[in-house]
Amino acid sequence: MQRLIKRLIEDHKHLSRVLSCLQREMYGFSGGEDPPDMGVILDAMDYIQNYPEAFHHPLEDRIYEQMASHISDPELLEMLERIKIQHSQLKELTRRLQNDFHAVANDQILPVDRLLTDFRAYDELLVEHMACENEHLIPAIEQYLGPAELEQITAELETRPDPMFGGQLLAQYEDLYNYLVESERAA
Ligand SMILES: [Fe+2]
Ligand SMILES: [Fe+2]
Repeated sequence: MQRLIKRLIEDHKHLSRVLSCLQREMYGFSGGEDPPDMGVILDAMDYIQNYPEAFHHPLEDRIYEQMASHISDPELLEMLERIKIQHSQLKELTRRLQNDFHAVANDQILPVDRLLTDFRAYDELLVEHMACENEHLIPAIEQYLGPAELEQITAELETRPDPMFGGQLLAQYEDLYNYLVESERAA
């Protein structure tokens, strides 16, 4: 159990770091001194699509599916249902934001307001979502996920390490990782 809980909490911390990096770069679109680094932004979006969106949130959905029948507390079920809906909303907002950034990178005309609005929507939802999971989903997993389901979920974790923070840094995220470490050191 501890391995699964630790992994989910670490994933949240890592995603928060990537989000902070995007927040910093977004100042460049709203009057900040330094222009936004599109390479960093596109790498960050690629990472978000490649790991949190492709693995972390879907895994949480599968965990929820497997333990839902053991939960009778209506308030908790409502909260877990809300987390599941947020996963769909995040998926949509991520896709929208990634399209926006690709448009900017390809010199297509895109109103800055649209970019800032789309980013704010994503940023606010993600922060609330992770706080909500830490507060409700994780304790529910500790209480309700059965041993057979836990074994299956834990096996899935092993097949899919985080491509940037999971011990082996994928070459495509080296620049982003170095940028993250540097900017955190400077902050
Ligand atoms: Fe999630
Ligand atoms: Fe999560």
